[in-house]
Amino acid sequence: MKRAFAALLALVFALALGAAAFAQTQVGIVLPTKDEPRWIQDQTRFLDALKTAGISAKVLFSQGDSAKEKANVEALITEGIKVLVICPQDGAAAAAAADAAAKAGVKVISYDRLIRGTANVDYYVTFDSFQVGAAWGSYLVSKVPAGSKGNNLYLYAGAASDNNAFIFFEGAWSVLQPKIADGTFIVRNSDKAVALMKKPTLTRDEQAQIIGQVTTNWNFADAKAKAEANLTAAKAAAKGTVYICAPNDGTARAIADAFRADKAVKTYYITGQDAEIASIQYIIYGKQSMTVLKDVRTLVSDAIAAAIAFTKGQVPPKTTTYNNGVKDVPAKPTAIVTVTKDNVKAAIVDSGYWPASNFTGLK
Ligand code: BGC
Repeated sequence: MKRAFAALLALVFALALGAAAFAQTQVGIVLPTKDEPRWIQDQTRFLDALKTAGISAKVLFSQGDSAKEKANVEALITEGIKVLVICPQDGAAAAAAADAAAKAGVKVISYDRLIRGTANVDYYVTFDSFQVGAAWGSYLVSKVPAGSKGNNLYLYAGAASDNNAFIFFEGAWSVLQPKIADGTFIVRNSDKAVALMKKPTLTRDEQAQIIGQVTTNWNFADAKAKAEANLTAAKAAAKGTVYICAPNDGTARAIADAFRADKAVKTYYITGQDAEIASIQYIIYGKQSMTVLKDVRTLVSDAIAAAIAFTKGQVPPKTTTYNNGVKDVPAKPTAIVTVTKDNVKAAIVDSGYWPASNFTGLK
């Protein structure tokens, strides 16, 4: 009798614990690093949206470390999450974390970056990353004097461990390659890109060869060092007016600073993405030429809606798929917006993305 009572008590206790775990964290959110403003944006927008979403969630950061990322996922599984929303630090390495989640019956949503090499990705919440790269290309082409040849082009890319770096590059190449092939641009910092300039479409391996030469690793210090090394190697003819395809705002500011410090560079045009506050200020001051606004609020609300759908046994909306090497992962990519000095006020401030009080010199 006593034993039965104890067993019953244990059961009640376990059920209560389970319920508490469920009540505490239904959705686990794992982001790559606190050290880049982009992912702080995502955390902030998640915390805002979760106030009204009616689900319980927890955000953890991996700090650029796939082992920490896996430990975060395991901790969340132990807390009883039903859905994992994860932006992988390294797309291939994160497959193990996705597999562990799936084994525990947790649905896996790849957030912004695609997890590669596993079938255990249920959904991909993303921006249209091809269009991000295409927007860089179109912007740079639009700044070239009509009919001119031999304009100096410097290419930079994100980290090769991030699948997005390839998609951004593919989008940029789709616009820039014809203009490299016809002599409008000369690529000044990648002999691999020069060697491949006649190919409109590159294989992943060919993309990797170019990215390997021009990667910033998504790291500001690496970006600065690479730009400085490129400038040291460049002859005077490769300076003057330059067109720089920079892969995001943090690296764009670092690369722009390096080019501005070179006296032989008279004018530069440089791209970016993320609409980081510091880059919006750079655009207002004319130190960065453009950025791509990827409205994180939309990404966050799509991720939360997908998580809720999964907890109800439903399937989130799909307009396309992205292949991760093993599976065509369903997705509904979100549109992007090009931001320059001309539309910065409308696109960033009037849209409510960032308040005007963050900026000086806004007209
Ligand atoms: C994201 C970018 C970000 C970059 C570096 C990419 O996967 O899509 O928005 O700037 O990673 O963190």
